[in-house]
Amino acid sequence: MSKNKLAKFAEMADFKNVVQPDDVSFDRTPYILRGKWRDDFFHNANPLTLELGCGKGEYTVGLAKNNPSGNYIGIDIKGARIWTGAKSALEQNLDNVGFLRTKIDLIDKFFDQDEVSEIWVTFADPQPKKQNKRLTSAYFLNLYRKICVNGARIHLKTDSRLLHFYTKALLEANGITPEFATDDLYASDFKGVAVEIQTFYEKMFLAEGKKITYLTFLLDKNKPVVEIPKFVEEP
Ligand SMILES: C[S@@+](CC[C@H](N)C(=O)[O-])C[C@H]1O[C@@H](n2cnc3c(N)ncnc32)[C@H](O)[C@@H]1O
Repeated sequence: MSKNKLAKFAEMADFKNVVQPDDVSFDRTPYILRGKWRDDFFHNANPLTLELGCGKGEYTVGLAKNNPSGNYIGIDIKGARIWTGAKSALEQNLDNVGFLRTKIDLIDKFFDQDEVSEIWVTFADPQPKKQNKRLTSAYFLNLYRKICVNGARIHLKTDSRLLHFYTKALLEANGITPEFATDDLYASDFKGVAVEIQTFYEKMFLAEGKKITYLTFLLDKNKPVVEIPKFVEEP
């Protein structure tokens, strides 16, 4: 491990806005803050938004800055990336920001029923060969249903046309109409945070000339999402 990473890890151990369970692979026992993030971590009753695979946490920090009446937690397995967002939030005195270092697969061990109001999935790995591992697969959407309020808004912003069109097909098969969907965000007339905040990976993809896609939809807590047959083709 590089010296730089070791220094970041050492510094991050004292960050009050970072939660890192000792064993990041976790043993599937519910975490002590489960159901209590608002009371015991943020000390308020404001709604909670998650950014999954947050990397440096541009959405976590940017949304928190825009909306002091919301709580925001970025989740990623990579500590050195989380360090950037956590440090920036501390420097800006944003006390409505937290970072959790864990695997998203364990999310229901960290959050309780109805604890989460909104989820952003930003430039997730499209997992071309492992449909179930896509962060918008039926498997993950059903995991989110467990921890979200009914009608929670899910945002997917990605350069991956596979992930975008797969998610659209999955939603359509399950009778879910996106609130908004575009396969070229910056050519669309969309106005809002999805165009105002750009992530580290997004800037790289834009520099490569890639188009950015974006969609949002509402998740019904009472209706399980059913997976579709293998979807591997990019239109
Ligand atoms: C392509 S990067 C995007 C990072 C950031 N959202 C951005 O747009 O710059 C994907 C991120 O997801 C994280 N990630 C992927 N699978 C994960 C999982 N199962 N649990 C936690 N983090 C995961 C990776 O560590 C990585 O930081």
